Amino acid sequence: MGTSGKLRLGVNIDHVATVRNARGTAWPDPLRAAILAEASGADGITAHLREDRRHIRDADMEALRAGIGIPLNFECAATDEMQAILLRLKPHAACLVPEKREERTTEGGLDVAGDQARLTRYVGALRDAGIRVSMFIGHDPAQIEASAAIGAAVVELHTGHYSDLDAEGRAEEAAVELAALSKGATLAASLGLEVHAGHGLTYENVEPVAAIPEVMELNIGHFLVGEALFRGLGPAIEEMRRRMDAARGLA
Ligand code: PXP
Repeated sequence: MGTSGKLRLGVNIDHVATVRNARGTAWPDPLRAAILAEASGADGITAHLREDRRHIRDADMEALRAGIGIPLNFECAATDEMQAILLRLKPHAACLVPEKREERTTEGGLDVAGDQARLTRYVGALRDAGIRVSMFIGHDPAQIEASAAIGAAVVELHTGHYSDLDAEGRAEEAAVELAALSKGATLAASLGLEVHAGHGLTYENVEPVAAIPEVMELNIGHFLVGEALFRGLGPAIEEMRRRMDAARGLA
């Protein structure tokens, strides 16, 4: 366990934009947060351009694409509008997520198995443009197999349910969910998919996920932006990095 090398940390800066948008000002600036994250050891920046633009806006994506030196992971729904933006901006990676207007955050994984023909064409166009495509899914084997079948390079396993169970003190159920995530990671890697994970991760729950050997990258946002209020964004990221490394036996 935990011997498969350094994990990448993708820092999601959506909620810097949430705070900015609360007042309609230009600050705090998500690009400034991304540059600071890069200087503090982030391996990539993730940002979600939602259909309703509730946090990140089109101009933020343009600024991030031009302004950071580490890979940009552009999260979005698999819509025609987003595909056109992706093909114009050509970020390093695109993470396709389900999106409902009424949800507070991305609640479940994408139904890849139920939309295979369309997603094969959708992902193919992005791949032809040199964009690495990731599917944000649950650990259901059918979704993992479908992600491989449609030609995705990466799956990001949704850790939200595990995080919720852990936060509610439901330790046994959290352990069952963690085991399912681990099994999903093994299956995905055996199919040639790179495995990422994220959603709801905190200092308290990150280590068991970081210890899953097939997981290559974690994407973490809300907790880090909150923690930045207390210790600053750089130190908040550095502490997450330290815990990830410890879980991997690198500290
Ligand atoms: N990965 C994906 C695909 C997400 O949708 C999100 C939330 O935007 C995250 C990771 C980060 O989740 P959190 O903000 O809870 O750390």
